[in-house]
Amino acid sequence: LLNPSKPPNIVFILTDDLDVQLGGLEPMSKMKKLLQEEGITFTNMFTSTPLCCPSRASILTGRYSHNHETLNNSISGNCSSLHWQKIHEKQTFAVAAKQANYRTFFGGKYLNQYGGKSVGGPQHVPAGWDEWWGLVGNSQYYNYTISHNGVPVQHGDDYAADYLTDLLANKSVEFIKSTTDSFLMMISTPAPHSPWNAAPQYSGEFPNNTAPHTPSYNVKADNKHWLIRQAEHPMSQESIDYSDNAFRSRWRTLLSVDDLVEKVINALSSTNQLNNTFVIFSSDNGYHMGQFSLPIDKRQLYEFDLRVPLIIRGPGVSKNITRMEPVVNIDLAPTIADIVSGGKGEFPDSMDGVSLLPLFNIKNEPKWRSDFLVEYQGEGKYQPPPGCSPSWMGVSQCFPSCVCEDAFNNTYSCVRTMDAKNKVDLMYCEFTDAETFVELYNHTKDPHQLTNIKETVNPVVLVKMNQRLIMLGLCSGKTCRVTNELATN
Ligand SMILES: *[C@@H]1O[C@H](CO)[C@@H](O)[C@H](O)[C@H]1NC(C)=O
Ligand SMILES: *[C@@H]1O[C@H](CO)[C@@H](O)[C@H](O)[C@H]1NC(C)=O
Ligand SMILES: *[C@@H]1O[C@H](CO)[C@@H](O)[C@H](O)[C@H]1NC(C)=O
Ligand SMILES: *[C@@H]1O[C@H](CO)[C@@H](O)[C@H](O)[C@H]1NC(C)=O
Ligand SMILES: *[C@@H]1O[C@H](CO)[C@@H](O)[C@H](O)[C@H]1NC(C)=O
Ligand SMILES: *[C@@H]1O[C@H](CO)[C@@H](O)[C@H](O)[C@H]1NC(C)=O
Ligand SMILES: *[C@@H]1O[C@H](CO)[C@@H](O)[C@H](O)[C@H]1NC(C)=O
Repeated sequence: LLNPSKPPNIVFILTDDLDVQLGGLEPMSKMKKLLQEEGITFTNMFTSTPLCCPSRASILTGRYSHNHETLNNSISGNCSSLHWQKIHEKQTFAVAAKQANYRTFFGGKYLNQYGGKSVGGPQHVPAGWDEWWGLVGNSQYYNYTISHNGVPVQHGDDYAADYLTDLLANKSVEFIKSTTDSFLMMISTPAPHSPWNAAPQYSGEFPNNTAPHTPSYNVKADNKHWLIRQAEHPMSQESIDYSDNAFRSRWRTLLSVDDLVEKVINALSSTNQLNNTFVIFSSDNGYHMGQFSLPIDKRQLYEFDLRVPLIIRGPGVSKNITRMEPVVNIDLAPTIADIVSGGKGEFPDSMDGVSLLPLFNIKNEPKWRSDFLVEYQGEGKYQPPPGCSPSWMGVSQCFPSCVCEDAFNNTYSCVRTMDAKNKVDLMYCEFTDAETFVELYNHTKDPHQLTNIKETVNPVVLVKMNQRLIMLGLCSGKTCRVTNELATN
């Protein structure tokens, strides 16, 4: 139970496309010192959908994609659609905080289609937010429009006046210094998403770094689903250079996020609020750079795209420790809702995730989930990508050299089991494609998911996983939170 005399503040820093598996946290030394050493690092944190808009919708509502209905990054896929605004946007953790009399602040990238003309424009301010600095559209560092409480403000490309990561840091500090009520902040950085504009003082950093050659780097994936089998192998020099450049550029943009973390912590400290504030650091999805010969992107069911950082510090949170329980992006909203309502384990029943509060003290060992759902509906296009073969249809994200990272048939749902006690650590996925393809990985033996064991595993395992997938694929609220008995017996 939390100290009721002054309800604790919450600062939630959400990065865009930040991986953990390819060293994404490495350049942020201030973040490590101020957040990791002062709190908990969750080493098994996952997104339930590895794409920005659906993942952000899950983060905001605490629901799986099949329940919040945001399927992709388009309005037609319910990304910031009027339907979303009418139903799901009214049930986010911001609304829960408002109901608990918190003062709320949002700054940065919201949902990819936010601010579009047909969905209310920048005049639309989502429910629950008092101070709103919402970026119109997808991540940008310069030349963007931001909605300040419904009024569009245009920014150019002067570093001192416009650089978005710095602007968010400045607006956050102003808010912290001027707010006396308990507050909830969500600071949602463009970094390290493309177009990767670094602050000028960081643009020459990491000149010799290249994308890490993990065991799946530039590996031919011939036992995997259709889209992956099409990737050019070995990668062209152009693709290799592209992913190496992406790696360096991403790290450069993260140095400004590191500065933002420091500025926010300093502001909390100088207003004597640091010991009464939870700071949460995470990302919407992971990223790959050359894994299975795919140059750059997310959207895949593999660990590099699904694993994201989660670091939390705050009152009563154990310091400088790691926890291994599987936690998911749908847990963030119930956790925040639980904190703002006093830490009694209460959050809206509609949420599919669980509150992480019982994990904040390392001495607690609560009964925990042993599996969760991952689901994704692939994005495609009805014309061939520009400059690529006219026979290439139904694909998207084809760069460089016509290697495509997504397709309509990259549509799958998976059960990820993680049960350390029983040494079960599996990923089971079914595709909605012409092949009804299945992939199964045993991470205990094959942490890099090199070998699809679908053909060799005991068929009983496939039956059990399929049953569990059907259950989770239809779950809602409480039924998503029922612990799986299948995985453990
Ligand atoms: C959003 O989801 C709802 C429910 O699935 C659907 O009826 C609607 O057409 C979708 N699209 C838009 C643009 O709202
Ligand atoms: C911003 O827009 C101006 C005017 O269109 C353009 O000249 C400039 O290159 C853009 N800057 C960036 C960083 O994209
Ligand atoms: C942020 O604030 C600092 C310090 O006042 C200032 O130098 C910088 O130009 C500001 N940056 C932006 C983008 O507002
Ligand atoms: C990068 O490599 C060049 C050439 O090998 C070397 O001169 C330089 O010191 C290296 N820079 C860093 C930051 O390691
Ligand atoms: C935070 O620190 C102040 C001053 O050091 C102290 O009075 C207060 O009780 C602390 N609050 C918490 C929640 O630990
Ligand atoms: C945090 O833990 C690491 C690894 O256990 C240790 O090396 C480091 O000194 C610790 N830092 C602090 C501030 O206690
Ligand atoms: C997004 O999802 C909607 C609804 O399923 C679909 O009609 C649309 O084609 C999808 N967009 C892309 C780019 O795949």
